[in-house]
Amino acid sequence: MSALQWGGRFGVAPDAQLLAFGSSIGEDLVLAPFDVECSRGHVEALRGGKIVTEAQAAELTSALAAVGVEIRDGSFANYARGHPFEDVHGAIDARVREIAGVAGESLHAGRSRNDQVATTLLLYAIDRAQAGAERAHDIAAALLARAREELELRTIVAGCTHRQPAQPVLLAFLLVAWSEPFLRSVSRFAAVARAARSSCPLGSAALAGSSLPLDRKQAAHALGFTQPSRNALDAIGNRDVALDLAHAFVRALVDASRIAEELIAWSAPAYGYVRLGDAASTGSSLMPQKRNPDPFELVRAHAATSLGAYAGALGTLCGLAPSYQRDLQETKSRTIAIAEDGLAVLRAFGRALAAVSFDRERMARAAVAGYTVATDIADALISAGVTARAAHALVGTAVAAAESEGRALDERDLTRLAANAGIESLQAPLDARASIEAKQTHGSTAPGAVRSQIDAVEAELASLERPFA
Ligand code: ARG
Repeated sequence: MSALQWGGRFGVAPDAQLLAFGSSIGEDLVLAPFDVECSRGHVEALRGGKIVTEAQAAELTSALAAVGVEIRDGSFANYARGHPFEDVHGAIDARVREIAGVAGESLHAGRSRNDQVATTLLLYAIDRAQAGAERAHDIAAALLARAREELELRTIVAGCTHRQPAQPVLLAFLLVAWSEPFLRSVSRFAAVARAARSSCPLGSAALAGSSLPLDRKQAAHALGFTQPSRNALDAIGNRDVALDLAHAFVRALVDASRIAEELIAWSAPAYGYVRLGDAASTGSSLMPQKRNPDPFELVRAHAATSLGAYAGALGTLCGLAPSYQRDLQETKSRTIAIAEDGLAVLRAFGRALAAVSFDRERMARAAVAGYTVATDIADALISAGVTARAAHALVGTAVAAAESEGRALDERDLTRLAANAGIESLQAPLDARASIEAKQTHGSTAPGAVRSQIDAVEAELASLERPFA
């Protein structure tokens, strides 16, 4: 049995090295179960169009089921790697022909690898988008659970911009902020799965449709798609869903990398806000005292490398004539690599997050350092009728004076500010807790607002829960 699905028109055998160069079997083996599924759909198209008999269809279906078993028990991978197949699609076709004999020879009737690859990739995208959504969901849910705990404890931390102390916030507020991108990730993954299901390329054949009466609707519905694709050329030549899947993973990893970076900084003794549990930390081969936050550093790195791979995947489409070109094989490989890596990274990120514990006292102590209540004092002046510009300047001067004396802002500053502003007296928050309590706007760090945020994100997450079930 030849490992190739073509050859009749050639006089000599293919160059073995060029054949190996063109093979994607090393990267697309992960598509095997989805290709079997796609082939099952094609059997439905053949059966519906009476291109094969019921008996042949049954033989093909049972041969495909047998290959499915071999995929699950690992023997198919050995088989595929043991022959010079161009790709997983050819390997499955060959194995079906071995199992089903003459009936197997009809599996590829009216089919091209072009519509086969496009359909298989969509089935893969649905599965991995679901898995990605579950990972993002679990990370968001874990962050919200931590937020609830820290809200009860009223843990305070210095909210920073530019990495400089800005204003005190509740740690719970910050944790909700970390959860929001993962909520959006769940929606993004769900949208990928929805788009994947909306249009089935199977039956588009090489590019022009088929002269055989393939029952495309039957195939599409058997595979869970809403309908057959509209235009055969577009169906075999576009990789929109694959790229959207890759994009969804890259975005989730970039979001994770930002939190990872914060936790890397916070775990350094200079901050000392968090401790990464022993089981999640790594040591140094030389410096006995070291404990390093490697999982978070690797999350950061994978975000960058997957972004690079995404640029590569999208780049292969630049200037590519809108049909099948072999370049698309590279888009396929990159997409698979991004999705497989993305799932592993999100899983590791979730585990590392669970190993983080907070040093609440240290956070609280740092929360008022750096004059983080200055804005609340300026706001109090504004409420007393002072213009925003004047209030900013007055408090800025008070901060400079306190700083030169090496002390925090206190009641004396409020008295002096009132006198300078020409008002009778000034009431304003001087500690972190009062600053947080003073916040009045929707979406702020005030405890009541944070409780509403947790409730709202949790409710939205629940409404997205298992969006594919
Ligand atoms: N190995 C190719 C891929 O995965 C299969 C499609 C080949 N089609 C073709 N017309 N040569 O993209």
